[in-house]
Parts: sequence; structure tokens; C-alpha cells
Amino acid sequence: MPLTKQIRRRVERAVRYLKAGRIDLQLWITGKTNPHAPPMRLQVTGVGDFDKIGDEFLRLLIAIGGLRPTDRVLDIGSGIGRIALPLTGYVRTPATYDGFDVMKGAVRWCKTNISNRHPNFRFQHVDVSNSEYNPRGMPASRFRFPFDDAAFDFAFAVSVFTHLMPDETRQYLRESSRVLIADGRLFVTFFLLNETSIAALPKHGTFSFPVVQGPIRLQDADHPAIGVAYNQDFVEELMRDSSLVIERIEYGQWTGRRAAPTFQDVVLCRRVGSAAPA
Ligand SMILES: C[S@@+](CC[C@H](N)C(=O)[O-])C[C@H]1O[C@@H](n2cnc3c(N)ncnc32)[C@H](O)[C@@H]1O
Repeated sequence: MPLTKQIRRRVERAVRYLKAGRIDLQLWITGKTNPHAPPMRLQVTGVGDFDKIGDEFLRLLIAIGGLRPTDRVLDIGSGIGRIALPLTGYVRTPATYDGFDVMKGAVRWCKTNISNRHPNFRFQHVDVSNSEYNPRGMPASRFRFPFDDAAFDFAFAVSVFTHLMPDETRQYLRESSRVLIADGRLFVTFFLLNETSIAALPKHGTFSFPVVQGPIRLQDADHPAIGVAYNQDFVEELMRDSSLVIERIEYGQWTGRRAAPTFQDVVLCRRVGSAAPA
């Protein structure tokens, strides 16, 4: 990205942070701070109602993913604990939850506010690069998750692959598969491109994905990680290569399906085979 655009991006981020800080202050002064949620300054990991979306995903992980209270759970890109928080009432000791994310501040908040009260909930910061969330760090395309093979019964990534490039997604699916037991389940969200969704893409706006780049479409070529949509065929191929079998797809509201269970498309896979893929 040209230097001027990089500088503009940094200034935009700083302005956004300051504006959010002002909202935090107003909420504090008026006594309207949500005691469960992180401050607005940290809420760069998703828009919408923090509590409502967290509860929605707890329901979907159970209803679509078959999540059980006894599962050892991995949250890939755990953000500001939006889903971890409602999970604390469901995943009880001796079951465990592990989350990792590239945003240091978000992980710090989760450790202080969630792990301190729920020691079976653990969070790790990983220094992996993402142009939106952590511009420096090691390439995600070479990142090995910091867990043993077959350490989890259930893994999920909500609104994470929508910010990753294809070689990063390939690596993250391989790694998800490696850390799952045989028959373990992976619940992931995407913006899937197929005949129906392409026909329904709006001409303008956040979800128009105007920039075609091989198997993906981007919202903004200068800021690729802001929003990435994937050809469904390509995702299916990556899953097959990672010993993941798709069990269910629930298409999302983003292409106008009002009755869909959530905004993004949900893909539920099961890990097949006993040996972790190389
Ligand atoms: C839109 S947020 C979603 C957060 C969380 N999953 C949720 O639903 O509340 C995207 C998250 O992915 C994280 N992320 C981006 N690239 C990542 C990577 N390579 N590895 C792990 N996390 C990543 C970001 O830091 C951010 O917290």
C-alpha cells in the first residue's frame, strides 16, 4: 500500500479510537457503561449489540454446531470475548475454552475480565500479522496454532476468515483440522460466493465486494483485510485438502435472506481421518 494511504489509515484508526474514547467517557459520566462489555475503544472487532450477538452465537454453536458443555473448545480470533462471555455459562470445568487473537489489548481485556473469574477460560495473544488488526507480526500463512494435535473437540472462527487472504485461510483450516480430534467439529463463518449470492450482491456499499482477485472478492483493494468474500468452490476445495468434510451450510442474511440464522454464512465441518493432516 502506498505510504500516503498507510498514513491516512493510521490517522483514521487514531480518530476512531479517540471518538470511541469519548463515547466511553459519556457512558461513564451518565452511568450507562455496560458492566460486562469491553470499553468502546476496544470494540473494533465487530459492530452491533455486543451482548445480543454473543448470545446469538452461543445459540448457533449449540443448534448448528452441536456444541456440548463437556467439549474442549477453541475460539480462533477470539476478539474482545463477545462469544467467550456467554460461553462461560455453558462450558463448565472440567471442560475448557481456549481463545487466541492478534490484538494484544483485546486479549489483555479477556484475561483480566474473563479468565480471572473463569479459570477454565484461557486467552493467548499471537503475534501474527493482519493488515487491519495487527499490521506487524509473522505471516498467518505460516502460523502454527500454539496447541498440540487433537487437543480440541470443537473449534470455531466467527468473522475471522472474512478478514484473511487465501493462503492464510488455507493454513488456518489446516491448523484447525490438526488441533481437532477425529470427528471433531469446526464451525466457521464466511461470505460465500456462489451463483445466488453473486446475483444478489449490491452494486455499492460495504458488502458489494467489487474487487475480484482470483478465488476471492475484496471490499477495498487498498485494505484487503477489511472484508473478504470467497468462492464457495474454493472453500470446499480447501476443506477437502484439510481433511474437513462439510456437514451443513446455513446461508446468511448478508445477501438478503431475512430468515437466515445470522448475518454471515455458517459452514459446519467435521474432521475426518485419525492422523492430523501434514
Ligand atoms: C470481526 S472480529 C471477530 C471477533 C470474534 N470472533 C467475534 O465474533 O466477536 C475479527 C477478529 O479476528 C482477529 N484476527 C484477524 N486476523 C487474525 C489471525 N490471523 N489470527 C487470529 N485472529 C485474527 C482480529 O484481531 C479480530 O479480533
